[in-house]
Amino acid sequence: MQRSPAPHMDPHGQPDKMNEKDQMNEKDQRDVLHGRQVAAMFGRIAGWYDFLNHTLSLGLDIYWRWRLARAARPEPDGLALDLAAGTLDVSVALCRQYPGVRVAAVDFTLPMLERGQRKLTGGLERRILPVQGDGRQLPLPDESVSAATIAFGIRNIRPRLAAHREVLRALKPGGRFCILEFGTGRRKVWGGLYNFYLDKVLPGLGKLISGDRAAYRYLAETIREFPDERQLARELLDAGYARVFHVAMLSGIVYLHVAEKAGASDSASPLPPGPEAV
Ligand SMILES: C[S@@+](CC[C@H](N)C(=O)[O-])C[C@H]1O[C@@H](n2cnc3c(N)ncnc32)[C@H](O)[C@@H]1O
Repeated sequence: MQRSPAPHMDPHGQPDKMNEKDQMNEKDQRDVLHGRQVAAMFGRIAGWYDFLNHTLSLGLDIYWRWRLARAARPEPDGLALDLAAGTLDVSVALCRQYPGVRVAAVDFTLPMLERGQRKLTGGLERRILPVQGDGRQLPLPDESVSAATIAFGIRNIRPRLAAHREVLRALKPGGRFCILEFGTGRRKVWGGLYNFYLDKVLPGLGKLISGDRAAYRYLAETIREFPDERQLARELLDAGYARVFHVAMLSGIVYLHVAEKAGASDSASPLPPGPEAV
């Protein structure tokens, strides 16, 4: 009996190179398109972004970003990267906690950075440099930053691995990549209240205030699709980070993930990974 090879195999049963290449190109194209759509969406809601953030989280987002900045621990007079910096709240939190630190605030949506620029007063304008750039191709030399943060941004980046690797490249040995992100909602938190909030309240309120239900539905969808803390840890280790740990906040509604690049002194005295290190 003759069998026709599977569509991704050549007639000898070997993986079809052309087909693999085509599939790669198609995926790349989808990622490029996704990036454009994300940038356009954040461009549309930039004016409402801060107000909605604080309202929908009842102001808790300010504390979450403060925790993120605290975990980052840049060198006292070093350069930190705030990726997907948006309206610059994390960049400002980093500067407030570390008076000698400067921040490269990278985001590919110009209207978000422009909105944030209003916050750069009282000397912050000399310490925070907003840069329009892509997290998958950072405009930074190797080993140039002593810490990196990303708040509510990593789930928008496709492929995530490209961003994990780029941040690793830009980090100095021993530096931390600190990720703040919502929990997936796959586990029932507060008797399912969190899921109800994601599915109904968030898109509804988002539409009411910003007029853009799609943007807030997208938010809920990306939260659900995001890997849980164990999968994300695996991803970060696969990308090359030496140690990864996380801290759950508000019963797992928000997670702080910390990934450390191997440091020069690693083999001598490895740090025990754990929340106590945040
Ligand atoms: C939910 S906002 C978070 C903004 C800010 N970090 C905060 O805490 O409010 C997500 C941001 O990620 C940015 N973003 C998404 N994909 C990106 C990429 N590939 N490179 C750079 N920025 C990206 C968007 O432009 C948007 O400003």
